[in-house]
Amino acid sequence: HRAQIQAVLSSCPLVPVITIDDLDHALALCRALVAGGIKILEITLRTEHGLAAIRQLRNALPDVWVGAGTVTTVESYREAEAAGAQFIITPGSTPALLEHGINATVPMLPGVSTLSEMMVGYGLGYREFKFFPAEVAGGVRALQAFAGPFDDVSFCPTGGIRQETARDYLGLDNVAAVGGTWLTPKKLVDASDWDGITRLAAESLQRCRG
Ligand code: 3PG
Repeated sequence: HRAQIQAVLSSCPLVPVITIDDLDHALALCRALVAGGIKILEITLRTEHGLAAIRQLRNALPDVWVGAGTVTTVESYREAEAAGAQFIITPGSTPALLEHGINATVPMLPGVSTLSEMMVGYGLGYREFKFFPAEVAGGVRALQAFAGPFDDVSFCPTGGIRQETARDYLGLDNVAAVGGTWLTPKKLVDASDWDGITRLAAESLQRCRG
């Protein structure tokens, strides 16, 4: 479980949080991100197209990690697994999700916004968490503080992070990757500006590495 989540998060410092409004755009959008250097795709289950997009992407893009985001119930966890998701990300943690995820074949990155929530998952064996909503839950300074008592835990912060701030998070020892929707602006997606998406991904990766 841990090894697989670590493999996902270490493959790429940026995790685009992707919501598919038009299924016909899914593949072109994700190909554009991959062309820009992205290796992880988090497809949210916020629209009816989420599961179908995961199925498509797993077939078409076998060399990148494709997972499901905004998973809020055990039922949708199972549906995402059946669709081929390779990882599951939740916005928050419930006892049911935590218990299901720790024994599931497809690993889960549970969402937390406080240390107390994190400690519930920690007690069950989780060591990697999504920190959400990162900017309003304390941002970089909260994560620095979390490292004091829990130096064996790492986070993928998302929520309010932008190209300009990704690097501040990635500079922390307890941040494995950062996520967000800034890599898929609605304006570019609606205009099918796939070159624009590729440029934005490449520029964001360069900025957080450079
Ligand atoms: C998520 O689920 O991670 C968030 O919706 C990302 O938030 P953002 O739009 O602030 O990047």
